[in-house]
Amino acid sequence: MTYRSYLDHAATTRMLPEVQERWLEVSQLVGNPSSLHDSGRRTRRIVEEARESIAADLVTRPSAVIFTSGGTEADNLAVKGLFWAGETRGKSGVIASAIEHHAVLDPVKWLGEHEQAKVLWVGVDSVGRVDLEEVNASLATGDIALVTIMWANNEVGTVQPVFELAALCRSYGVAFHTDAVQVLGQLPMNLGELGATAVTVTAHKIGGPFGVGSLILDPDTKPTPILHGGGHEREIRSGTLDAAGIAGFAVAVQSAVKNQRDFAQRVQALRNDLIGRVLAEVPAAQLNGEPELGGSSRLPANAHFTFANCEGDALLLLLDAAGIDCSTGSACTAGIPEPSHVLLAMGAEPKASRGSLRFSLGRDSTSADVDRLIEVLPGVVERASRAGSVRSRA
Ligand SMILES: Cc1ncc(COP(=O)(O)O)c(C=O)c1O
Repeated sequence: MTYRSYLDHAATTRMLPEVQERWLEVSQLVGNPSSLHDSGRRTRRIVEEARESIAADLVTRPSAVIFTSGGTEADNLAVKGLFWAGETRGKSGVIASAIEHHAVLDPVKWLGEHEQAKVLWVGVDSVGRVDLEEVNASLATGDIALVTIMWANNEVGTVQPVFELAALCRSYGVAFHTDAVQVLGQLPMNLGELGATAVTVTAHKIGGPFGVGSLILDPDTKPTPILHGGGHEREIRSGTLDAAGIAGFAVAVQSAVKNQRDFAQRVQALRNDLIGRVLAEVPAAQLNGEPELGGSSRLPANAHFTFANCEGDALLLLLDAAGIDCSTGSACTAGIPEPSHVLLAMGAEPKASRGSLRFSLGRDSTSADVDRLIEVLPGVVERASRAGSVRSRA
């Protein structure tokens, strides 16, 4: 088998052995955590211990941890649920950044199109950072039910001033949600200090199982539920709890939090080497996002480039054929590459917004992965650029 470099850990990362072990152990048990008999009480105990463990690791209260099927569901619950709860108090505005993940972007748009929400989009600067003053001005218009701004962007890795944003929203008495899916394990996460109303996290980005995540929600806040049913999770999220997934998630959170500093230091050094060598070897490459690589304004595992005259999908497929897994930031709709809404919001031209690639590192990334990338990338960019010129002449 040819050597494969997996440089797409921001999409998902390998499950930790200790997570697999715990998942397997709990998956062999019988008993619905809501059942009153002994078997049910045993799985309930496992769920509640996991809840306590996650709360302790993230410095919040166990009652704040609402389990969901992952980041997308937690984002939808926060955005729609907090909007509807605000609406019942006569508020109809939603403030969101223009660079949110689609799991936030699309529910916000949907509220605007179907629920008469007044959506105020907040722009970003050329590195992808929101302007606090703009958020402040939007809040001052009044009538705001919810502010949702991600902690760090999944494409370009720019970290937002979430502590200041949370404090600003508190000063207006407005709910603040932040999508922290990409942040857990990469930056310190003390939710007690943050003081947001709701924070989204998901297991599969930190070595946990797929299909489980959480909305960490202020215990005194009650969003309108999206899923109605058995009244699980404080009647906020009905549905039988996945005890094995939740137990595995707790193990993954514990490991992510315990190892965050060492992990960040190691991947940041590797990432900086990757960036330096790509810029040196590929003249067509331009780094996107925060250029200061030593600080905490950019996720330590993220590298994101635009390659002049190339289509991102062509680059991706050529790298795939050469044994490298990475990602184009932009979505593909029915096979047609779309420019990245993130790069567009940062002021890039539509053509350049289609020619970008994200390389994201993880626990088992090594310098051999970077060496392999540097070996093949110049040739790949050259070929994609030739294909791009033929396409633009056609
Ligand atoms: C920033 C961000 N939010 C939300 C999600 C969705 O999370 P999940 O895959 O758990 O639904 C992702 C996944 O890529 C993400 O990067």
